[in-house]
Amino acid sequence: MTRLSKLTSRLSAETAFTVLARARALKAGGKDVVELEIGDSPFPSTPAAKAAGIRAIEENRTGYGPSLGLPELRAAAANAVRTEFGIDARAENIVVASGAKPFEQYFAEAFLDPGDGVLIFSPHFPTYEPNLERRGARAVLAPLRAEDDFRPTADAVKAFLEHDPRPRAIFLNSPHNPTGGVATREDLAAIANLVRGTDVVIFSDEPYCHMLWSGTHASIAAEPGMLAQTVAAYTFSKSYSMSGWRVGFAVADPRVVETIGLLINTTASCSPPFVQIAAAAALEHDHATRDEYMARFRRKVERLSTGLARIDGVKVRQPAGTFYVFPGVQAICDRLRITSHGLALFLLEAADDRFGVACLGGECFGAAGAGFLRFSCAEDDARIDQALEFLPRALDRVDRVKSFLDQNPQFKLARPYGAA
Ligand SMILES: Cc1ncc(COP(=O)(O)O)c(C=O)c1O
Repeated sequence: MTRLSKLTSRLSAETAFTVLARARALKAGGKDVVELEIGDSPFPSTPAAKAAGIRAIEENRTGYGPSLGLPELRAAAANAVRTEFGIDARAENIVVASGAKPFEQYFAEAFLDPGDGVLIFSPHFPTYEPNLERRGARAVLAPLRAEDDFRPTADAVKAFLEHDPRPRAIFLNSPHNPTGGVATREDLAAIANLVRGTDVVIFSDEPYCHMLWSGTHASIAAEPGMLAQTVAAYTFSKSYSMSGWRVGFAVADPRVVETIGLLINTTASCSPPFVQIAAAAALEHDHATRDEYMARFRRKVERLSTGLARIDGVKVRQPAGTFYVFPGVQAICDRLRITSHGLALFLLEAADDRFGVACLGGECFGAAGAGFLRFSCAEDDARIDQALEFLPRALDRVDRVKSFLDQNPQFKLARPYGAA
């Protein structure tokens, strides 16, 4: 057997993609599955983006481009974050890549050395830790609490700065996947006041910047002086339903932008020009469709959270942002003696032979997520209703839970979560 690196033995995958593959395999075998596991959009990519992308291919914009991104997209992106979020950005503050996710790796490679401490509020997006692993950096987890509306606290940042032997970076994600929590301007100002002028850098992951269900989006990069020590990542995946195009950008200090450009130059070379032209068109012409999509997502989130709240044993907090609902199911798990991840797989695979609901156990986002499920709004309303109708019936199928646990003892709940 060929020997693989130590790094690969420690890498873990984003579980949503694993459950997606399982759901698709069951569907291929004839099962009817409502897919609420992956954070994707049921809507088509916005129209100006599609038209511009097709035109660009026809005009043969299909060769290499600059590693930092096309000038027209960098200018349009700077304009967008300046006017929408108050970030003092110009084109030289922007670097383009294939979505928001690659910036986790570029950030780690640009700033982190082995042993550096990185504060992550948890539950958290599952690829943060593998990307720290690439550089041998250390994840320091601080809990996000339902009673704080899942908002990051300055107290946790203060404790990290005071007690960690080598504090170097903080990962923020607002609006937050999976909890739907949103950091307020005041939360971010308090955190900025603690780190401003220190050697600590911030990765601000903001893919859901247009999915706020009250108030307006705040970025720590807009706080005075903070652009100098922040990399804020944005994507077209969620706002413009363009996840498969793989395009996003980051806002940072020009020196950091140049460094990330070097990392791109030595790996991906560049993002495809025709994709970037489509993205620039989205920024320039697709605001109305984007806003209409966001309104539809909002109604879906309300539909899903209201429906879930009616189910016995489910505790729902209306998400302040994102298209996820993150209900507490501790009481159900304790009653059925099953872990939340086990419960998610039961609903998909074993609750019924012909019908299933795909969602994720909260522990896919770290141990702090145990006792919760994450549902996305990735399906039509009628399908969401079908899932809501199915769930209470599935949760009553105690005999099926028992045989599922007999076959999969790893999902037996060793100690009750203790429903709060
Ligand atoms: C918190 C967070 N960061 C990054 C990403 C990745 O976004 P993209 O598809 O643009 O790479 C996602 C996607 O679900 C996300 O939820």
